[in-house]
Amino acid sequence: MKSEGLRIQRPAVIGAGTMGMGIVEVLAGNGFSVQVVELSQDLFNDALQKMDKRLLRRVEKGKMAAREREEILGRIRYVPAINNLDQVDLVIEAVVENLAVKQEVFKDLGACTSPDTILASNTSSLSITGIAAKTTRPERVLGLHFFNPVPRMALVEVVAGMATSPALVEAVSEWIRTLGKEPVKVKDVPGFLVNRVARPFHTEAYRIVQEGTAGKAQVDRIIRSAGFKMGPFELQDLIGIDINYAASVSVYEGYFHDPRFRPHFVQQRMVESGALGRKTGKGHYSYES
Ligand code: NAI
Repeated sequence: MKSEGLRIQRPAVIGAGTMGMGIVEVLAGNGFSVQVVELSQDLFNDALQKMDKRLLRRVEKGKMAAREREEILGRIRYVPAINNLDQVDLVIEAVVENLAVKQEVFKDLGACTSPDTILASNTSSLSITGIAAKTTRPERVLGLHFFNPVPRMALVEVVAGMATSPALVEAVSEWIRTLGKEPVKVKDVPGFLVNRVARPFHTEAYRIVQEGTAGKAQVDRIIRSAGFKMGPFELQDLIGIDINYAASVSVYEGYFHDPRFRPHFVQQRMVESGALGRKTGKGHYSYES
């Protein structure tokens, strides 16, 4: 398939959470001026401060020049709402994993950006086809599923919905490569590839603990010693237990309640408790000190 020879110059990111700010960091680090939409200036300021902490740590370790940090920060601009975005050619959405919320965002993006603007979702598990259908140009909508932590993880799943232009998929994949990332084209199935495979990794771990076969720390330690980088519980603390639970529910629903993907009730209890992982200072483990 011939690519469109894409030239991205003005990207924007919607949602300054764990993933959104990781994507912003990569874009700004590659020289792009990035507009960022978040629900409030305070939420954005907190997110920027967290990102800056990471940059400062790299400066302290001698892995980044102080000037580079300043340049990265200087390229990031807060925008209060989608209809305040200045001309953009690519928008990457990274708001909560909820189809109705994402569809609302895409409806606004479709209405407020130019017809050529590429609209991408960082969803882990939801239907790109369903998100794209809310815009007037589903052929310009695709999934760009980055992995956490974005600055360190090379993989990006590139997802084509039913209406996505194949030439666009090629062109965006080529562009992703210029960011130093590894694009992999996947089908628009619930959970795509990685999150589908990862469902039993997480839910079976809950079942093992619930039946008393092993404790959480033991499961994590054994899985690590089997060659995995992280065990399921420490990985959930990194991902966000709420986000991982939302992915479990959406894959389960996406496969019409196939028991292979059934979530575990303790996942839900963890979300209800508000202990969501590193981002709240406490999840399966404590990060408060
Ligand atoms: P998060 O909860 O850390 O951040 C979401 C952010 O979006 C919050 O700051 C929230 O205030 C903001 N937001 C919500 N509605 C908004 C709106 N209408 N306009 C602007 N901002 C809005 O979530 P996280 O972890 O960054 O996940 C975002 C997306 O990325 C989800 O779809 C998730 O499934 C996906 N994802 C998450 C990964 C992870 O490890 N956490 C990995 C890969 C994908």
